[in-house]
Amino acid sequence: MSVKSQLLKDRLPRHVAIIMDGNGRWAKKRGNMRIFGHRNGVKAVRAVTEASAELGIDYLTLYAFSTENWSRPKSEVDALMSLLVSTISDETKTLMKNNVQLRTIGNVETLPQDVRDKLQTCIIQTSNNTGLTLVLALSYSSRWEISKAVKGIAADVKAGKVAIEQINDDLFVSYLETKNIPDPELLIRTSGELRISNFLLWQIAYSELYFSDVLWPDFGKEDFYHALLDFQKRERRFGKTSDQLILNK
Ligand code: FPP
Repeated sequence: MSVKSQLLKDRLPRHVAIIMDGNGRWAKKRGNMRIFGHRNGVKAVRAVTEASAELGIDYLTLYAFSTENWSRPKSEVDALMSLLVSTISDETKTLMKNNVQLRTIGNVETLPQDVRDKLQTCIIQTSNNTGLTLVLALSYSSRWEISKAVKGIAADVKAGKVAIEQINDDLFVSYLETKNIPDPELLIRTSGELRISNFLLWQIAYSELYFSDVLWPDFGKEDFYHALLDFQKRERRFGKTSDQLILNK
């Protein structure tokens, strides 16, 4: 029986987030430059996007470029930015065909103008698509997002728009980059690293974590199905006991 056919349609996560890791090591193992790994990583991006759209998952968030990634050598940053531009241009047609909407989270104003222009065009073009929402985290870090939310709330308190007593989880969420996006039920990280690396720290409070040893360029649909199947075997208790969950069924 294939892994895909074992998946229960009614128990799929609505939102999957992925830390795509291992491109550099994948390239190094082949005696190539790191950008060769990033270029091959695009194939994996295509595979998980297609699989998510086919399965009917609502949101897929990919950590494509972190705030900390700006500290990489300029040549690698420049190559990654060019790759983003060419990938968005090449893939817009496929996103349209698969009814996928593109969104971004992160400090996109810090991205080069040509990247922002391409993103904006693709976001507008795909804005009426009703299937999967593909969220690219670009120049993103969770601490930046949380600080920004705190500044936004503080400014609104100062302006008399928000009372301190109104500050709760729901209000906080409305100041995050991910407002109107449900929290991911599943977070996947590839390449065997067991870290969260400043990604969606608020949003993953109750996410199931799945770590794969596969390097990102090798991560294919089958690996994605394995992660989903593993997720479906987990008992999500949200602080309750197993007995309470059985009684509430
Ligand atoms: C991490 O691997 C990967 C990145 C920092 C970039 C991810 C980018 C892509 C997959 C290509 C473009 C993406 C889109 C959405 C078009 P690493 O470089 O940290 O690998 P290492 O840990 O082996 O060095």
